[in-house]
Amino acid sequence: MLRTRRLRKADGIRRLVRETKLSVDDFIYPLFIEEGTNIEVEIPSMPGINRYSLDTISKELDEVVALRIPAVLLFGIPSKKDDEGSETWNDDGIMQQAIRFIKEKYPSLYVITDVCFCEYTCHGHCGIIENNDVVNDATLVNLAKQTISHANAGADMVAPSGMMDGAIAAMRDALDANGFVNLPIMGYSVKYASAFYGPFREAVDSAPSFGDRRTYQMDPSNRDEAQREATFDDQEGADILMVKPALSYLDIIRDLKNNYDRPIACYNVSGEYAMVKAAAEKGWIDGERVMMESLLSMKRAGADIIITYFAKEAAKILQDNRN
Ligand code: PBG
Repeated sequence: MLRTRRLRKADGIRRLVRETKLSVDDFIYPLFIEEGTNIEVEIPSMPGINRYSLDTISKELDEVVALRIPAVLLFGIPSKKDDEGSETWNDDGIMQQAIRFIKEKYPSLYVITDVCFCEYTCHGHCGIIENNDVVNDATLVNLAKQTISHANAGADMVAPSGMMDGAIAAMRDALDANGFVNLPIMGYSVKYASAFYGPFREAVDSAPSFGDRRTYQMDPSNRDEAQREATFDDQEGADILMVKPALSYLDIIRDLKNNYDRPIACYNVSGEYAMVKAAAEKGWIDGERVMMESLLSMKRAGADIIITYFAKEAAKILQDNRN
């Protein structure tokens, strides 16, 4: 008889035939850094995840480094906002201060910056507004300024999350013209207009004050269009292509893995984190196992890199070899 169960009989053989393995090397850990002092505030819908000011963040960074997580993704929360988000290219802005602080104190940690405007604009949209919509090309000019400011502060990689057309090209041109030819770009290439971002928007106070993001982020119904987005980013020179969110978009991750010879990242977003934490808190699921199984599914789908709020917890489990 044809039998598949023979290779499942014992832990030893299961380990030998295991196809996908998670490693701490897969993870990028997002950090929320707020302008001010003495801030360490837990995000209510994201238990275990805090907003920190630079004077309180060291113990978090110590842990990240001790767990050998290779990289962090920084989000800045400024104390002042305006219509165009001009704090994003202030060389003394919170993001720039954070980059300098981390690169000085933790030189081995790879620092990736989120390049966007929504946390920095009064209206909460990802660029300049005209006629109740984000204007693409004028936003690119500011995007280039923000990118160079992050690069000057010492960022190792930049990641535009605003879904403007031509963002990768605009950033690549600006970086190359300013001597940053070796600074890579991770494109939020396929980013859907998703309800799974809810807790994040609460965390960084970036919910749009009117309308929504459907004129720039992708329609969750579309799979072919994801290829188009990825092709444009690939042609414009994105070094890594990302899919966001992750769990409801595993098909898209696999498509990109099959069709592009670039590393593929996925973003296991705030709502995905919140759901696991909430159900675990109620005792309805085994939170640790669901966490590991979800992360594994992203890797199995084809993600080479996983951006996740679970990075520290998962790294601990991998370290103890408990998975
Ligand atoms: C926008 C941005 C968002 C996230 C990362 N960058 C939210 C949005 O597009 O509204 C979401 C991250 C998450 O939910 O964990 N700059």
